Amino acid sequence: MGRKKEEIKIRPFWYSDAWIFPKLITIITSLDKDGKINAAPYSHIMQYDVMQKTPRMLVGFRQESHTFENIIETGEFVVNCPSADYLDDMMETARFWPEGVNELEHTRFTMIPSRKVKPPSIEECPQIAECTVDQVIRLDKSSGIIIAI
Ligand SMILES: Cc1cc2nc3c(=O)[nH]c(=O)nc-3n(C[C@H](O)[C@H](O)[C@H](O)COP(=O)(O)O)c2cc1C
Repeated sequence: MGRKKEEIKIRPFWYSDAWIFPKLITIITSLDKDGKINAAPYSHIMQYDVMQKTPRMLVGFRQESHTFENIIETGEFVVNCPSADYLDDMMETARFWPEGVNELEHTRFTMIPSRKVKPPSIEECPQIAECTVDQVIRLDKSSGIIIAI
């Protein structure tokens, strides 16, 4: 039996829709240079370097995003993993709010102090990783990749 050719129109992120990469939806909290809180959903995230005893994460960002700029500025962020019960709240944090707006204030999420980094954690998230930047890779005219410990 011959293979059926299928046309896929090229569009941004087309491979994310056409290819099944199971993704975790997280909310990353960060602080800007003035200490203002920012939160937004990020799912381009994975475990990095399985050989290391210290866990490392790799996260892919639009380089113009407030989260990426904040992380470059401060070197810290928190990865918060909400349950599906908070889907609407998670989507609320995805809006293009102006710089300096704390998206969490428009949700049911509660901010709590983190143990080792300055950005807050989200109390309702059963899984939280406090991260500090290890490496930054800026892909030409594309994403910024952050590897964190
Ligand atoms: C479920 C979900 C996952 C997302 N994952 C990513 C991602 O991995 N990388 C990215 O650059 N943007 C991602 N986005 C888009 C950002 O969350 C969105 O651009 C947001 O407004 C950025 O906010 P910020 O500028 O405050 O960082 C995702 C959005 C949603 C709804």
